[in-house]
Amino acid sequence: MRSEFLPFSTPTIDEEEISEVVDSLRSGWITTGPKVKRFEEEFKAYVGAPFAIPLSSATAGLHLTLLALGIGPGDEVITTPLTFASTVSMVILVGATPVLADIEPGTLNIDPVKIREKITPRTKALIPVHFAGQSCDLDPIFAIAREFGLQVIEDAAHAIGTEYKGRKIGTFDSISIFSFHPNKNITTGEGGMVCTKDETLAEEISLLKFHGMSREAWKRFSAAGTPNYDILLPGFKYNMMDIQAAIGIHQLPKLDGFIARRTEIADFYTREFADVAELALPAYAPYEQRHAWHLYTPLVRIELLTIDRDRFMAELKARNIGTGLHYKAIHHHEYYRKVMPVPAGSLPNADYASERILSLPLFPKMTLDDARDVVAAVKDVIARFRK
Ligand SMILES: Cc1ncc(COP(=O)(O)O)c(C=O)c1O
Repeated sequence: MRSEFLPFSTPTIDEEEISEVVDSLRSGWITTGPKVKRFEEEFKAYVGAPFAIPLSSATAGLHLTLLALGIGPGDEVITTPLTFASTVSMVILVGATPVLADIEPGTLNIDPVKIREKITPRTKALIPVHFAGQSCDLDPIFAIAREFGLQVIEDAAHAIGTEYKGRKIGTFDSISIFSFHPNKNITTGEGGMVCTKDETLAEEISLLKFHGMSREAWKRFSAAGTPNYDILLPGFKYNMMDIQAAIGIHQLPKLDGFIARRTEIADFYTREFADVAELALPAYAPYEQRHAWHLYTPLVRIELLTIDRDRFMAELKARNIGTGLHYKAIHHHEYYRKVMPVPAGSLPNADYASERILSLPLFPKMTLDDARDVVAAVKDVIARFRK
């Protein structure tokens, strides 16, 4: 057994990120400033998006996008049950109603056929989530959006560097929201970015992110600026800081290398587990795509074992292997069960995944020996608890 605990994820922070943060701290400019601007420009160039708005988190991006699109009471927004809370909570917080459409059983991404079944005259937007870094099938999703006049907001928290049919997520006729939380494919500590082609929307989100103020602080307080400003609307405090961007500008050039490494480890798991009947492995979508491998999420086929998923995770932990849970389905959480109950059995694929899914360790700093330890521990637990 491994002697040291292997976490499910940990960020790769090198000396250049540390020096850049120290440089910000020494410079006297630690909040939104020139490094945020540089990160915005470089991220925009990497993705190929005309407009990008750096924020304090992807959650902030979801919140401001919904507000800027005028989505609110009486509106319905269709999304996946297999996502993080904030995708759904932000819909609730703007006063709209989230509607869950079931996932595909293999990729665990939202099923476009199920989206169509959920559309009503009140539907205003769709929020597909590119689960684990694999693109949703965007063509049928955009076709539905065009047919019914809906906005598409891509929750791209897992999908920095993901491509669909040769194009990066962030370049489609939609709004894409990325996360730089420490577990994500690149990090800024906490942080997020909204990408869009719509200049008016980008301006609205930029205003909302910082008090509705007509000028950002660094334009007011730098030598070139003027301290005057106007408030154009009541806004939030969702700006990214230079301390965060200092990390991001050194993470971004490493992203493709990170994804290559993640892919190597994911492919290793897939080869090693190919004959393990007790695991249903993550499926590759059949269309052309680049999977960013944010997560590696097999389903544990508990019907073949004497233990449930939670015990499976505990057994891995006892063998010094960390795991993540992405996700317990939204409609299984206490709060959503109360405010948006769904009829039992109406989301069968999400129910199935929710009780079986776990995230195995996957991060660029992992070695193949670490991955071998994970495989050995998983096989050991299965052998011990096979029916
Ligand atoms: C699918 C999904 N959406 C949204 C978020 C929110 O991102 P952030 O933590 O940057 O607010 C996350 C983060 O875990 C996520 O996984």
